[in-house]
Parts: sequence; C-alpha cells; structure tokens
Amino acid sequence: MKTQITEMFGIQHPIIQGGMHFVGFAELAAAVSNAGGLGIITGLTQRTPELLAHEIARCREMTDKPFGVNLTFLPTVSSPDYPGYIKAIIDGGIKAVETAGNNPQKWLPALHEAGIKVIHKCTSVRHSLKAEAIGCDAVSVDGFECGGHPGEDDIPNFILLPRAADELKIPFVASGGMADGRSLVAAMALGAQGMNMGTRFIATQEAPVHDNVKQAIVAASELDTRLVMRSLRNTERVLRNEATDRLLVKEKALGANLKFEDIIAEVAGVYPKIMLEGEMDAGVWSCGMVAGLIHDIPTCKALIDRIMAEADAIIRQRLMGFLAH
Ligand SMILES: Cc1cc2nc3c(=O)[nH]c(=O)nc-3n(C[C@H](O)[C@H](O)[C@H](O)COP(=O)(O)O)c2cc1C
Repeated sequence: MKTQITEMFGIQHPIIQGGMHFVGFAELAAAVSNAGGLGIITGLTQRTPELLAHEIARCREMTDKPFGVNLTFLPTVSSPDYPGYIKAIIDGGIKAVETAGNNPQKWLPALHEAGIKVIHKCTSVRHSLKAEAIGCDAVSVDGFECGGHPGEDDIPNFILLPRAADELKIPFVASGGMADGRSLVAAMALGAQGMNMGTRFIATQEAPVHDNVKQAIVAASELDTRLVMRSLRNTERVLRNEATDRLLVKEKALGANLKFEDIIAEVAGVYPKIMLEGEMDAGVWSCGMVAGLIHDIPTCKALIDRIMAEADAIIRQRLMGFLAH
C-alpha cells in the first residue's frame, strides 16, 4: 500500500506505533520498523537526553529501517529538558518525530531544519487545524476510543476522522481503536492515509513489558476501560483495576474539589511497577477500548503481515464484491 504517510516516512506499510510510556523502548520500535511499519521510541520514558541518545543508538543496532521518537509536551510545572531531548533526536539522525500534548510550534524550526517530519497527535479537528497552521507535516487523529488521553470532547473516530478529512490539507493517520485489517480499511475509507496503534502493539512478543500486561489486555473486553481525571481536565482512558476503582471512588466523593495530590498514589510514578514488574493493580495505566479486539500475542511482523493481508482481502474481495453486479 502506497499512501502519503508511507511516502513521507519511507516505510512499507501505513502503520505507526504510537509513543507509549514504559512500553516504547528500542525493542518494540525496532520490531515494528523491521516489520515495515514506523516504530516509535517514547522520549520521556528515558529520564535524560543522554539516556534517549543511548536508546536511539540501541534501536539503530536492531534495525536499519526508519524509526521515530515520541516527544510528549506535558503541562507540568517542572518541565523536562526539552531542548536536550530535541538535540538527542537530531544528533541521533532521527527523521520522524511524533509530538503530543501541548503545542509543538516552538520546536518545529529546529526539527524541520534537520530534515525531520513531524506528526502531531490531536484529539480534535480544532487542534488538528492548529497543527497544520503551525507547519506540522501530518496529524495523528486520536478518537475518543483511544487508550491514554482522548481530550475532553468525546468524539469517536466515526465522526472525528471524516470531519478531519473535510478540513485538513495535510495527511493524517487514524488513531484510537485500531487493531486489524478492518480498522485500516475503515480508517482509509474515512479519509486517513494510515493508522496509528497503541494498545494493540503492547500485546506483541517484542513489546518489552511484563507478560501480565499482555495477558491483561488479551483478557479484557471492550467494556473494561474507564475514564479517569475528567474533573482535572486531564482525562485518561485506563484499564479497570483495583487502583482505577479506588480512584473513581475518590473522584465521586470529592467531585469538583478533587486535586492531583488526592490521587498521587494511583497515578504518579506507577508505570515501571506495572509495565516492568507486572504489578497489575499498582496504579492506573492507559489502555484502549480496542482491548476487546485483541485476542493473541503475535510478533510484530506476524501482526502487521496479517493486517495487510486482511486489508487486501477486504478491499479486493469483500468491497469490490459489493460492486460487481
Ligand atoms: C500504555 C500506554 C501509554 C501511552 N503513553 C503515551 C505517551 O507517553 N505519549 C503519547 O503521546 N501517547 C501515549 N499513549 C497513546 C498512544 O500513543 C496512542 O495514541 C493510543 O494508544 C491509540 O489508541 P489505541 O490504544 O486504541 O490504539 C499511550 C497509550 C498507552 C496504551
């Protein structure tokens, strides 16, 4: 499949692996890129720019294909060393950056000067148009279904993607709820040039997370995610577990008075315990509704090959078949 996204990033298949905290290490990024997609290292999981430089070098040893880095711009008071991370990305010869969170405008000139293509993740048409206006090369349109932060508008991809297609001039990929060949064909029918997957890529052989995390995704249905932190306007879709239930009780009790300090035990610094040590109730962790479509733990290559074969069959047989009368 040749699309504006495969051309832009020099990849074989229009499939991107979204940045994921404590999941997007070199092993996963390399596996996705070796399978013909675009693997992404999660920048901020590396505590310093030096560690990110090291992670990029490690990934380079595992693949000669293009891979990218995710840089999430958090609304935190003590900001990470973004200039340092940008320098590590540029010096590391990276040609694709997935930005997310706050407006990346400030960093675009340096990235573009280094020949880097920037795809900004947006949860609304409004933010997508802003990304286009400031000069981003592409957008990842992240619908309400998505694992992680779906924004505050709650617009699912069946509406969000065609709305984006109607308004955007730059290419975009569909993100949130994508799992298989059906997702890819549907996303492209709605105007996308490819798809971005998060949760699906966690349940793969190469994802360097504890097996408990993969099993939890396989065991979960589409009914098992919850939205947390809405009252803080920092809504996150997470898998339901003991920590999620505790957090929701606090949210209900405190209502509009809820402060971040009240839920630190459930949300702060919990990812290493969950992802690396497999303590599944140690805190809340992002997971998409798409868990309901995930039933196995294939290699990234088997997954991507299956998606492309399924997409091919859907287009050539199922869809063309409807026209053949
Ligand atoms: C465990 C997990 C951690 C994530 N961490 C980040 C992150 O650090 N930065 C970011 O931009 N997106 C993050 N995301 C969002 C993904 O990149 C992607 O947009 C999302 O998972 C797409 O929805 P899906 O899970 O339905 O495929 C995370 C998602 C998951 C499931």
